[in-house]
Amino acid sequence: MAVLKATQEAIAAAGAALRGGALVAFPTETVYGLGADASDGRAVAAIFAAKGRPRFNPLIVHVADTDGAERLGSFTDSGRQLAAAFWPGALTLVVAKQPRCPVADLATAGLATVALRVPAHPIAQALLRATDRPVAAPSANRSGHVSATRAAHVTADLGASVSIVLDGGPTPIGLESTVVDTTGPEPLILRLGGLARESLERVLSRPLALARGEPGKPASPGMLTRHYAPATKLRLDALEVRAGEALLAFGPAVPKGATATVNLSPSGDPVEAAANLFCALRELDGAGAQAIAVMPIPHAGLGEAINDRLQRAARSR
Ligand code: TXA
Ligand code: MG
Repeated sequence: MAVLKATQEAIAAAGAALRGGALVAFPTETVYGLGADASDGRAVAAIFAAKGRPRFNPLIVHVADTDGAERLGSFTDSGRQLAAAFWPGALTLVVAKQPRCPVADLATAGLATVALRVPAHPIAQALLRATDRPVAAPSANRSGHVSATRAAHVTADLGASVSIVLDGGPTPIGLESTVVDTTGPEPLILRLGGLARESLERVLSRPLALARGEPGKPASPGMLTRHYAPATKLRLDALEVRAGEALLAFGPAVPKGATATVNLSPSGDPVEAAANLFCALRELDGAGAQAIAVMPIPHAGLGEAINDRLQRAARSR
């Protein structure tokens, strides 16, 4: 594995590696992705092997622009409206696959739909243009771990299976993209994420429902309840610290007595908290505490997605 500063030269090499069937990790504005040529079934299979994914969940396919997306999927009116408003950005749209869509069946788990995203991050954009193929990329973490928001998280989790890691520093948003299914009569949020529900609702001028899959059969196959999980137990909505606990804090009033403390946002800003969340969970998970106490975080804006991830991480195994 080579960790390369994302120079023009490194991006060109990474594009060539992708075209040759290798795996490349790269930053997007949400989290780091583990990319493969989406039209190459063997390369896509290598993603599942590298992540240790127990099942073949469908992957997000990344393209440089909306034209590229329209070549792979057929968009409904609501899909077009959301793409126009939020691409490039932290939004993934599930659309019907085009009849001659070149994306490998393994990347869509054999579904008749495909999840598409146009990322805004300049390194992701440059890589997609250098590759000139759709790039399938789940978050660049081992299956079940929290997503990688730093190049160092990628190397710690994935090791030798990745040929190049493009280091673009910390990812600015820090939560995965919001996934919206636009194939039905009403768009449906499959996964809360880096684009707040309120922003989507403003553009569509109506409330958006959040899909609630039945247990064991989630609406979005990747939304298994046990996900985004550190090894240390989490205790949510903690107002005080108990003996032996580390503390994930939020806001200016922080209780004392923790074995280790990380404050997601001393000023109480949910956008800053989202950007720090996964890094903080990794850090506190490595602090050897008996449990991690998590202070309450308001649900407005990105707070909804932060609370979603924390609840998944807290579910007992
Ligand atoms: O921010 C992100 O979304 C990152 C960056 C790298 O783009 N990617 C990411 O991918 O988080 P992943 O594989 O960890 O999550 C993809 C989610 C899963 O919940 C999966 O089930 C859902 O998208 N998904 C993919 N294709 C789908 C489809 N055809 N129908 C329904 N859900 C789909
Ligand atoms: Mg993931």
